[in-house]
Amino acid sequence: MQTSTRGNLLLKRSLAAVWHPCTQMKHHESLPLVPIARGAGCWLYDFEGRRYLDAVSSWWVNLFGHCNPRINAALVDQLDRLEHVLLAGFTHEPAVALAERLARATGGALGHCFYASDGASAVEIALKMSFHYWRNVGRAGKTRFASLAGSYHGETLGALAVTDVALFKDTYALLLMSSSQVTSPDWRLAEKGESARDYAVRAAQALERHLERHHAETAALIVEPLVQGATGMAMYDPEYLRRARALCDRYEVHLVADEIMTGFGRTGTFFAFDQAGIAPDFLCLSKGITGGYLPLSAVLARDAVYQAFYAEDTARGFLHSHSYTGNSLACRAALATLDIFEDERVIEANREKSRRVSAASQPIARHPRVRDFRNTGMIWAFEVETQDPGFARDFFTRALGQELLLRPIGNTVYFMPPYVIGEEEIELLAGRTARLLDAA
Ligand SMILES: Cc1ncc(COP(=O)(O)O)c(C=O)c1O
Repeated sequence: MQTSTRGNLLLKRSLAAVWHPCTQMKHHESLPLVPIARGAGCWLYDFEGRRYLDAVSSWWVNLFGHCNPRINAALVDQLDRLEHVLLAGFTHEPAVALAERLARATGGALGHCFYASDGASAVEIALKMSFHYWRNVGRAGKTRFASLAGSYHGETLGALAVTDVALFKDTYALLLMSSSQVTSPDWRLAEKGESARDYAVRAAQALERHLERHHAETAALIVEPLVQGATGMAMYDPEYLRRARALCDRYEVHLVADEIMTGFGRTGTFFAFDQAGIAPDFLCLSKGITGGYLPLSAVLARDAVYQAFYAEDTARGFLHSHSYTGNSLACRAALATLDIFEDERVIEANREKSRRVSAASQPIARHPRVRDFRNTGMIWAFEVETQDPGFARDFFTRALGQELLLRPIGNTVYFMPPYVIGEEEIELLAGRTARLLDAA
């Protein structure tokens, strides 16, 4: 069979059998699915040998390239030992070793890693744990959550309740618990002449006013540290996190860091909250945790939280589970990912890489149609001036024609490439994106 025929056939079968995520399926009448045959490094290949630079790390998960030899080898080794065992009443080496290493990565501030599968399930766990903690310590009135305006924490009902993206949330409003949204520290909202830091201070003052009034019924504030991803890569100054930490301490409210997107080096430090010199009470991790290989998420909690659940009474315990909690293969992929971080001094190496992408992107930053070009660590974003409501889909399609996988959020174009992106690929990404802007 010809590869192109294979690709076409797969596309048809997919449309007939698969309900694709976050998609109005009818749009695929005019926007073809992209059948992928294989991946290598930063590249995805279709059945005709056409290639696409995965500049969005396949929904922000991939760190060290597709089919990374080290992660592949670790998984093959693990396959011959143990693929999965339930984690209630049983344990295994990869789950323990990963929990130990993640706790070390927080400098010991957080420990007792609770595993789940996807980002949203980690958020559900953090919210339930926070609520249950307050109940266990006799503060059952703390039942509400606050999040930032424009926040995104996932699509399950609890995570969606603290999300603030209308397109995803409004349809399900009747199903959701109510939550409060406080001013986002997104520096694009700063007044003329106001620095990102000054604006972060002003946003923290709004948080203070909220907590002053509502702390008695607030269990936790959940934030995406430094970069609010799905709302359009809104970036903010670490000062906000420092002040939010102090306010949460003062008002006895948990601080939940949702580092599902920002963790594992995306913002230039291992965790984004490192840049503020603080530690949260709960840390939600997923996406890059397995290098982009397998679904795995984790919630790390402060020891005081763990201790509040530790008792003879079963109901004081955290009786939450998912069948694949702590899956051995996923944990092993995560351990291989951490090995790469250590052996290849990735955080340091990314500093230079980040400078290079920023330098190569200067024609984009100066482009007359581009607004608010911004960068945090290994994430770049900018708005394109356009009146076209179909901009995102049109840009996506034209980018594919330039061998680029870019998925704008509205009129926000962003780069979040795997860390293995090389010099030539950086030039190709920046150069062709600038050309797409010229041609628009
Ligand atoms: C900050 C943040 N939290 C939670 C999630 C949800 O993760 P998942 O899609 O794995 O459920 C995402 C996904 O994009 C995210 O960016």
